[in-house]
Amino acid sequence: MNLQAILDDIVATLRPELGRSGKVADYIPALARVPADQFGIALRTADGQEVASGDSATPFSIQSVSKLFSLTLGVRALDEKLWERIGREPSGNPFNSLVQLEREQGVPRNPFINAGAIAVADRLLSVGDGLDDLLAFLRSLTGETITVDEEVAASEAATGFRNVALANFMKSFGKIDNDIPAVLDVYFRQCAIRMDCRQLARAAAFLCRDGVHPLQRTEVLGVRQARRINALMLTCGTYDAAGEFAFRIGLPCKSGVGGAIVAVVPDELTVCVWSPALDATGNSVLGMRALELFVARTGMSVF
Ligand code: DON
Repeated sequence: MNLQAILDDIVATLRPELGRSGKVADYIPALARVPADQFGIALRTADGQEVASGDSATPFSIQSVSKLFSLTLGVRALDEKLWERIGREPSGNPFNSLVQLEREQGVPRNPFINAGAIAVADRLLSVGDGLDDLLAFLRSLTGETITVDEEVAASEAATGFRNVALANFMKSFGKIDNDIPAVLDVYFRQCAIRMDCRQLARAAAFLCRDGVHPLQRTEVLGVRQARRINALMLTCGTYDAAGEFAFRIGLPCKSGVGGAIVAVVPDELTVCVWSPALDATGNSVLGMRALELFVARTGMSVF
């Protein structure tokens, strides 16, 4: 299969659509001014081949895609114990919703909604250095320098009233151990990490290799742990659009409001698409279209 030709063809097919539909995240100025007419795609195969097309080397705010890597660190450090305070069911609600949390006594439905990721950040602070561990992990997975966009991080903190509410709400149920400002600092800064499609495809490649590190022979996660992360991506990785993603794409995916979506084809490859304009659920419009084209042209699916 000529993967380069497939990616180039997806870029050519979507180019006329750039900037036509969806809306760039505008809750902070640093994201609102990102030009909508950008599209990148990159993949890394299980045997280490890397292929890319379009704006694949343009860095962006990874936002909620960071939840994939913080969850991986949490599973690595705590394994089953992580699930004492975090569920594994789709929420069927927007990623920043508060209502479910009250009904379910401060236990977030899953680690990919904001409340779940804040709970994971709390656990990472209890077992290690929080954000420093996450950055070191991403540097190890990519072999490259990975940094936080300080302007985005400061704006996340200045405007993240709902996340402050979610964290305090969980604390009121005794489900957060560390100080709220420290926990939120990890969460806001992880959202503000900057990476490009190429780096994200490489960093998430352990998920198509049953947990084996993309650049080393070491284990990032055990086989069962890696498969479970893929299961969570399929059922919860794109919030209340997870059903639509499974229906239209049929791969485990994790999205972020920076416009990135990471998708995994187990035993084959990991692909990252990026285009900043989002639909109403916070998922990249052209990213989703690109993944549909990708599975149609490669025949790849978990089903
Ligand atoms: O925490 C927030 O609400 C933002 N930083 C958005 C994170 C995100 O990407 C959620 N979903 N797509």
